[in-house]
Amino acid sequence: MATSEFARLPGFRDFPPEDLALRSHIQEAWRRVARRYGFSEYDGPPLESLDLYVEKSGEEIVGQLYDFVDKGDRPVALRPEMTPSLARILADRSRGMSKPIRWFSMPQLFRYERQQRGRLREHFQWNVDIVGEAGVGADAEVVAVAIDGLRELGLTSEDFAARVSDRRLLNAVLGVVGVASDRRSAAFGVIDKIERMPAEKADELLRDEVGLNGAAVERLRAILAASSIDELADLLGDEGGADEEMANLRDYIGILMSMGLADFVELDLRIVRGLAYYTGIVFELFDRKGELRAICGGGRYDRLLELVGGEALPAVGFGMGDVVLGELLAERDLVPEYRPRVDYFLVPITEDQRAELLRIAHVLRERGHSVAYELRERGVGKQMKAATREGADTVLLLGPDEMERGCVVARDMQTGEESDVPLSELA
Ligand code: HAM
Repeated sequence: MATSEFARLPGFRDFPPEDLALRSHIQEAWRRVARRYGFSEYDGPPLESLDLYVEKSGEEIVGQLYDFVDKGDRPVALRPEMTPSLARILADRSRGMSKPIRWFSMPQLFRYERQQRGRLREHFQWNVDIVGEAGVGADAEVVAVAIDGLRELGLTSEDFAARVSDRRLLNAVLGVVGVASDRRSAAFGVIDKIERMPAEKADELLRDEVGLNGAAVERLRAILAASSIDELADLLGDEGGADEEMANLRDYIGILMSMGLADFVELDLRIVRGLAYYTGIVFELFDRKGELRAICGGGRYDRLLELVGGEALPAVGFGMGDVVLGELLAERDLVPEYRPRVDYFLVPITEDQRAELLRIAHVLRERGHSVAYELRERGVGKQMKAATREGADTVLLLGPDEMERGCVVARDMQTGEESDVPLSELA
């Protein structure tokens, strides 16, 4: 029964401790993995100029912006993604920095999306980016970070895979099957959505909007179904036109193989990515069962920094959201059980011992222990119940007898064993 007259906005979440525990579990894993790869954490403001997103992010995101005019007449928007902020921040300071720049962040982002499973109107997104390195080693490095982020949470190659494509390669393939240059972006749009529409509908669009004949549609479909570079090379035959991009992808897979991560990666030319700024290798991470939306998406965006007025630096990175990931962890039974806990719960037998217990509590806290107690007079039975509820490891009982003997009774809440601890030890 709802008791408050103020409902939470649709698509937003509350985080009571039991839910915040999962979010923290995920974010701590993300942070550990990013640091292991030598990345530094950064952040930016949650509100940015509207201009930053218009044109840079692409139509889809712009249509979902939470934007308004502020009291100083500035058109502003809540950040729907981090990449434009990263580009803006670096535009101001990258010149003096040594390259490559390895930065990560975990912003809360806002998009007015149609509500569906795995998509809310706010989410936390792990952003990991390398700026200033054009070579394929950087592309492989960021996808390795994404994979290890999920492995750190207990997921394996049976649970998820990275589906990798390359926009330049796809562009070359479209040339090989006969898509005219001015129809390429229409073709990208259809391929981006091809998995989510009926086959007849896709064929119709490929004919009418992309301008392919029946045989070319068939050929394109066969090429899009290739799941390895060898398979793709066979399908393209000697026509060439994509040799350089294929060699690049082979190097990329080779690096991941050396890292022992090749099992997590497959070629999939249907991965286009909705955002406007990608220029090279792009990827998305999905659950293997194919039941959930993308867990993570990213790729190379070599022009964005220049577009926002900064140094012309190549860049590559990804964003991984907490929503789909939380669902996947729950399905695989990988959500740690939430249990409140404190090291010590202090129980005065009568109120006369409270002052001494408060002194002890302070000593223990200063030594770094967590300590709780009832804040007002209660019977010992009620206090012991509270100790259980708070998840106390040890209860310290202090009564008139103990005061006289100069000790407290420590009860191990797991075993029930009791022992005396001299007050002098707690001085
Ligand atoms: P994106 O594909 O828009 O990329 O989002 C990345 C991930 O964020 C998605 O795969 C999904 O897990 C999560 N996500 C996005 N929207 C929602 C939503 N409404 N609800 C829940 N989760 C969501 C980007 O944002 C790029 N800026 C990533 C990037 C960083 N590229 C390079 N560097």
